Amino acid sequence: MKLIFLGAPGAGKGTQAEVVSERYHIPAISTGALLREAMANGTELGMKAKSYIDGGALAPDEVVIGIIKARLAADDCRNGFILDGFPRTVAQAKALDEMDIKMDGVISLEVEDDVIIHRLGGRRLCSKCGSSYHVDHKPTAVAGICDKCEGELITRADDKPEVIKSRLDVYHEQTEPLKDFYAAKGVLKMVIGQEKIEDTTALTIAAIESIRG
Ligand code: AP5
Repeated sequence: MKLIFLGAPGAGKGTQAEVVSERYHIPAISTGALLREAMANGTELGMKAKSYIDGGALAPDEVVIGIIKARLAADDCRNGFILDGFPRTVAQAKALDEMDIKMDGVISLEVEDDVIIHRLGGRRLCSKCGSSYHVDHKPTAVAGICDKCEGELITRADDKPEVIKSRLDVYHEQTEPLKDFYAAKGVLKMVIGQEKIEDTTALTIAAIESIRG
């Protein structure tokens, strides 16, 4: 099964992609995570992406398309995958079409901007394994320490309030038009994000099951 998770920053794409990945045994591929990994490794690509990401802008289409092409060629994508945060522009969606990959469904997670601002302000990531938490909605057993690997929790550089605002603007201008793009192909499913993560998961799984028929 090949799925795209669309949605504003902080809508819960990564949180739901992790659960869906485990349930259906398909990898969740986050372009944001791949770009942050390249930044942490100090690669040329990472350096190129850093100024865009830290300022809340999108990385250039050709950079992200190149990353996705390479990642989708890996063996673990043979039985399907979840694209978390790709495509984010109509040009990226057209590039995916040109790769001759037929997507089974596109899940758009719908969350209001003011809810997102609260969510991203409280998000914490493990500095070692990258697991994502929230100080109120998904706290760790021991404050500041990852449940999975005991790594230290950190706040993402682009989760500062002024950067969150830019990311939301970019989403509404450049990514939201993809809903019409995929609705016209008949593959769009809207999921209204709920206050509790597990309630959103139930709606997401129901949408995926309707895609599987
Ligand atoms: P990326 O890492 O993809 O960030 P994003 O899309 O901005 O999304 P987030 O990871 O912030 O949020 P999410 O929707 O995954 O929410 P999460 O599950 O963590 O991209 C970062 C940057 O990389 C971009 O700004 C751009 O510069 C660049 N980039 C990436 N892809 C690109 C592309 N294709 N083209 C160009 N540039 C690209 O949830 C958020 C928080 O809320 C968590 O703390 C979570 O625990 C909590 N939460 C989740 N669901 C719920 C719920 N239902 N109730 C309560 N809390 C919840």
